[in-house]
Amino acid sequence: MIKVDDIAFVRFSAPDLDKMETFLSDFGLTRAHRDDKTLYMRGLDGDPYFHVTHLGEPGFVGLAFEAKSEADLGALAKSEDAKIEGLDGPGGGKVVRLRDPNGFQVEVVAGRALLPKLEVPATDLTNDARAQPRQNHLKRLQLKTAHVKRLGHCVINVKDFRESERWYKSRFGLITSDEIYIGAEENAFGAFMRCDRGELPADHHTLFMVGTGAPKFNHAAFEVVDYDDLMAGHHLLKSKGYSHEWGVGRHVLGSQVFDYWRDPWGHAVEHWTDGDLLTASWGSRKAPLDDLIGVQWGMQAPPTMA
Ligand SMILES: [Fe+2]
Repeated sequence: MIKVDDIAFVRFSAPDLDKMETFLSDFGLTRAHRDDKTLYMRGLDGDPYFHVTHLGEPGFVGLAFEAKSEADLGALAKSEDAKIEGLDGPGGGKVVRLRDPNGFQVEVVAGRALLPKLEVPATDLTNDARAQPRQNHLKRLQLKTAHVKRLGHCVINVKDFRESERWYKSRFGLITSDEIYIGAEENAFGAFMRCDRGELPADHHTLFMVGTGAPKFNHAAFEVVDYDDLMAGHHLLKSKGYSHEWGVGRHVLGSQVFDYWRDPWGHAVEHWTDGDLLTASWGSRKAPLDDLIGVQWGMQAPPTMA
């Protein structure tokens, strides 16, 4: 077993790369590379890309994890009896391609060359009920779209939760942050899983799997700069008539402020900010379904999120 470090990218296919690029640009991503058949999009961080679209029938192709090293990738290839291939796309790198019990392609990559980071919109002082540091200083945000920093997590609906949990944990060392149950605690329905980075913090979840019985892409989630950035993105997407799904609200599990949209082919994509970060020693918990669909503020999940 290796311990993956993070999610690397999600792959989709779509019949119109112009339309996808326009949506993703409005969503706050930046083109990393494009050719006749493939579109690679990046964010503010140095990852060469984290959203890939191949020209074709609309659909979710799969997700990819970042291995901690090429040595780990070698170890994975050996234990899976899989080959290590060169990875197409900006930044190069190597990849091992697997298929999970639901039929999703799961890639593990290493050695991608990072790009220089893009400029993060400047922060400003904030006055609130506790402190008023902003004096003789007007707030004028220069925001239009949100600015996506990175890909944070992917959510998949799976055939059999325990089967998928075993498959992913035994290969990639993922740790459960919150296991979701329905009714009694032993009726597990899914789990939020994070990467094991030891004493380095990881997102509350990098992968969330829901045992609905029918494998399906659920959503991919992208971290934006802050609350103002998320709200600017919300209004920009609304003004352009894109399809809104759920939000704005604050999740219970993971604690993020969230806002969900649909790409032109109906794939749910989330903006989030201010999520929980947990080290390996934080351990695991169990939580009822109500905590999954409920919010700390905002509206409850619509049934279309299932
Ligand atoms: Fe999410």
